Amino acid sequence: MTRIAIVYYSATGKNYEIARAIEAGAQAAGAETRLGKVRELSDPAVIDANPIWRAHLDATAQVPEASLDDLDWADGFAFGSPTRFGLPAASLKHFMDQAGGLWSQGKLADKPAAGFASSGYDHGGQESTLLALYNVFYAWGSPIVPMGYTDPAVKAAGGNPYGVSFTDPRKEALPEVKLAAARYLGGRLTRYAAVLSKNRAALKGA
Ligand SMILES: Cc1cc2nc3c(=O)[nH]c(=O)nc-3n(C[C@H](O)[C@H](O)[C@H](O)COP(=O)(O)O)c2cc1C
Repeated sequence: MTRIAIVYYSATGKNYEIARAIEAGAQAAGAETRLGKVRELSDPAVIDANPIWRAHLDATAQVPEASLDDLDWADGFAFGSPTRFGLPAASLKHFMDQAGGLWSQGKLADKPAAGFASSGYDHGGQESTLLALYNVFYAWGSPIVPMGYTDPAVKAAGGNPYGVSFTDPRKEALPEVKLAAARYLGGRLTRYAAVLSKNRAALKGA
C-alpha cells in the first residue's frame, strides 16, 4: 500500500479542513495515510487573544503531532500552511528544519511532495507561500507534484496550478470546489508516490 503523510499547520482550522480532504483523496486512491499537525510554537497569550485560534487548538488536541518518522515512513507527502506575511508559518518550517538527519541519509529524496496554502486575501500570498514551501522540496530532492490544469477540479477551484490554495472564507465553511480540488491533489500525489516508490532502484540508476 502506498503511504502518504499529510503534515500541516493551522491556527484557525482552514488548513486542517484541507488536510483532511487531501487525506480523503489519498485514501480513495488506495493510500495508507498519516495526518499530523506540527507543534504550535506561538506564545499562549497571542493564541488566547484570538478566540477562534484558541478554539481550534482545543478542538484538535487529539490530532497527533507529525513526527520525523512519518516522513521516513511515507512514500510521498503533502505539507500545508496558512500564509503568514507571504510565507509559510514558522511552526511548519520549524518542523521541516528538524529533518536534516533524514535528508543527510537520503531518506527524503525521490519521494513526491505537494503543497497547500491559504490566505486572508485573494492576492495575499497563496502562491508565494507555496513556492517558498517548495524551496525545501528542491533541497530534499523531492519531486514536486503540481496541480497543473490536469483536471476540471483545478479550474473549478480557481485555477491555481501550483497546489491547492484558497482564500479564507472567515466564518463560512470551505466551498465544496476547494475540498474537491484537495481530494484530487491527494489522489494525484498518491498515484505519483505509487509509481516512484515501485521504481526506486531505477531512479537511482541501479
Ligand atoms: C500573523 C499572521 C499573518 C498573516 N499574513 C497574511 C498575509 O500575508 N496575507 C494574507 O492574505 N493573509 C494573511 N494572514 C491570514 C491567514 O493566512 C488566513 O486567515 C489563513 O487562511 C488562516 O489559515 P488557518 O485557518 O489554517 O490557520 C495572516 C494571519 C496571521 C495570524
